[in-house]
Amino acid sequence: MNDPEKTTATQPSLYERLGGIYSIATVVDDFIDRIMTDPRLNANPAVNEAHHRVPPAGFKYLVTEMVGWAAGGPQKYTGRPMRESHQQLNITPKEWDAFMDDFQQTLAKFGVPAAEQAELKAIVNSTYGDIVIAKSSPD
Ligand code: HEM
Repeated sequence: MNDPEKTTATQPSLYERLGGIYSIATVVDDFIDRIMTDPRLNANPAVNEAHHRVPPAGFKYLVTEMVGWAAGGPQKYTGRPMRESHQQLNITPKEWDAFMDDFQQTLAKFGVPAAEQAELKAIVNSTYGDIVIAKSSPD
């Protein structure tokens, strides 16, 4: 007799469904180029200063490592904790929205399927409390 526990197909990890590290690095490359030049984010002087100080290749390396790790790949994230690297940046909820808009544009460009998009957004959203410290100023 079949044991239902053993015959239930286990879903491949998010890392595998995204196509592994080459696909993840390609998506991160596009996304970081987008956010580093986004005037909605660089209007924040602290963000603008850091975006012009950190070399893009190193930034992309760390974010690729982090996404690989968070998606269940073999990578280990070696960068600084999110609160530590963002607490001086005074990031507001509006800036967060611009960041997520850039993210959506990248996901759409590469045709990432809806289920995988939702899982990636859940990972990113889980960092909100460590990233967004400031309040948006009223319009
Ligand atoms: C509005 C949202 C965000 C903005 C404006 C922003 C901007 C920045 C900037 C300017 C740096 C360089 C800081 C420095 O070295 O002084 C940085 C570092 C970093 N950010 Fe963000 N970030 C945002 C959200 C996120 C999110 C949601 C993630 C991941 C889920 C993330 C991942 C990283 C990583 C991995 C680093 C490198 C940390 C290190 O230096 O060790 N960021 N971010």
